[in-house]
Amino acid sequence: MGQNRKIVVVGSSNTDMIIQIDRFPVPGETLLGKDFRVLPGGKGANQAIAAVRLGGDVALVARLGSDLFGDQSLENFRKEGLDVQGVVQDKLLPSGVAQITVDAAGENTILVASGANNALSTAQVSEHAGLLESADFILMQLEIPLETVRFIVEKYGNNGKKLILNPAPAFHLPEEMYAALHAIIPNQAETRFLTGIGVTNEDTAVHAAAFFHEKGVEVVVITLGAAGAFLSSPGFTGSLPAPEANAVDSTAAGDTFIGAIAAGRCSGMDWKDAVIFANRAAALSVTKYGAQSSIPFLAEVQKHF
Ligand code: RIB
Repeated sequence: MGQNRKIVVVGSSNTDMIIQIDRFPVPGETLLGKDFRVLPGGKGANQAIAAVRLGGDVALVARLGSDLFGDQSLENFRKEGLDVQGVVQDKLLPSGVAQITVDAAGENTILVASGANNALSTAQVSEHAGLLESADFILMQLEIPLETVRFIVEKYGNNGKKLILNPAPAFHLPEEMYAALHAIIPNQAETRFLTGIGVTNEDTAVHAAAFFHEKGVEVVVITLGAAGAFLSSPGFTGSLPAPEANAVDSTAAGDTFIGAIAAGRCSGMDWKDAVIFANRAAALSVTKYGAQSSIPFLAEVQKHF
C-alpha cells in the first residue's frame, strides 16, 4: 500500500457483554444461554481499530467514563496504535455498554446503554479541532449525539475533508447534511429506514443509491451481509460479492467493512478495490466471536486472499 492519508473517527466506544444462545428469546421468555464474554466494542471504536489494523493512520475522538471499562478501553486504544489525544474520560457518566446476544446462526441483537457516548459534544470536537483539521477522511456513525455529527458535517464537509457516514443506528438525517457527505455506508435495514426502499436486487439498490445521490452524496455503498456490497460511485456501479465464510458471529462485520474502506481509500485504492478489500476483511471477521476480537490485521487479509 502506498500513500497513507489520515483518518479521524468520531464515534462511540462500548464494552460489549455477549451471551451466546441457540435462539433469541421472545418478550417475557427466560432462556438459558451458553458462553458469556466481556469484550471491547462500540461502532466508532470498532471502525477505528479496523482501520488501524488494516494499515490506516487513525485517530479516535471518543468519550469514555472514568471507570474500569473506560480505563480498559483507553489502554486498549493505545495498545492498538490509535492516536488517543481526542479520547476524553467523562467525570460523571459511565462508559457505554452493549448487551449482545448471538444465536446459533451467528446473527445478533444489540442493546446499547450509551453513557458517556451521549456527552461527546460539539465542545469536545471543537477542543480537538486541530485533529479534525489534520484529517483527510472523517468517519462517523450515529451512536453519538446527532447534533455533534451535524456540527462536524457543517464545519468540515465543505472544507476539503472527505466525510464518510455510517448511519447506524438509523435516524432520520437533516436534509442539508447529505450534500456535505462524501460517502454514506448503510446496511439494508438502514437503507430501508432512510429511503423507504427495500434492497433485494441490483435494481432496487440502484434506486436506493439514487435517493442519496439526488441529495448530494457522491458515493453510496450499501452493505448486503454475506452477499457483499453494492457500490454506486463515479468510477463504478454494481454489486461486489463477498467471499464465502464460515460465519460464527456477525457482530462488527459492518464496522470491519467500513474501517477497511477507510484504510483502503487512504492507502490509494479506488472505491471498487476498497470495497473488494473491505468484503474480504469483513468475511474474515465473521469467522471469530466478538467485535474488536474478530477484526483481522492487514497481514491476515493478505494471507487469505
Ligand atoms: O456494530 C457492533 C457494535 O454495535 C458493538 O460492538 C456494540 O458495542 C454496538 O455499538
